[in-house]
Amino acid sequence: MGWVRRLPVTKRERLLPRLADIMLTIALSKGKMLDLTLDVFRRAGYALGSLSTESRRLVFPCPEIGMTFLIVRPTDVPTYVEYGAADVGIVGKDVLMEQDSDVYEPLDLGFGACRIAVAALKGQASRDRLSSKIRVATKYPKITERYFNQRGVPVEIVKLYGSIELAPLVGLADRIVDLVETGNTLKAHHLVEVECIAQSTARLVVNRASLKLKHVVVTELIKKLWAVSRTPTGSRTSAPRKFSRGAR
Ligand code: PRP
Repeated sequence: MGWVRRLPVTKRERLLPRLADIMLTIALSKGKMLDLTLDVFRRAGYALGSLSTESRRLVFPCPEIGMTFLIVRPTDVPTYVEYGAADVGIVGKDVLMEQDSDVYEPLDLGFGACRIAVAALKGQASRDRLSSKIRVATKYPKITERYFNQRGVPVEIVKLYGSIELAPLVGLADRIVDLVETGNTLKAHHLVEVECIAQSTARLVVNRASLKLKHVVVTELIKKLWAVSRTPTGSRTSAPRKFSRGAR
């Protein structure tokens, strides 16, 4: 508009990034992983102020460290990041394997180690060789289908949202596919691990556009988190993946 006089922009102002460009929104998985995630951020030197696992709040702005944290269900983290509502997310590999979201996954944070396993009631561990089709209860239908398809074992999948260990006890399923950490929940329900499908640990995921537009701050976050990340055996996790276009 002709009548609005443009204020002269100094070279310094041109070079300064806008605040919105350097603020990061980070989606954290609530539940078991949240305390471990906050611990990693604190060890990496980020002052998280009022952020606590006790609170019912879902949004925690931390302007002093240039970050806003969102507390969301683990299964929703990839969606927030893929759609750009969050620049970065912390989520288990199990969730990423199930959802196959279009996000960049540069860093294994090493904590939250568990495995995705097939389990059955004690004494019934070899039943799939006898019956034509086995019924498997799980909250991971895609991982389960891929796994049994690759082995040529016909399955009927029963999707559940939790308390999976109950299914074989009440005759709902022959097998379950679920997360196993200590193995205590399986033991408490007279179940035994039959096969391990995959190992899972917490991963840092990044929105593809944020990776380009907020490259400096995202890279700094990755470096700092990697510096304090350890595998369950105490060694360093593998180096962050290079930022190449189209990489996963
Ligand atoms: C997870 C998983 C198992 C349990 C395994 O459940 O689904 O039930 O942890 O842990 P363990 O091997 O150390 O016993 P979660 O507590 O997340 O709840 P859910 O059953 O509602 O998914």
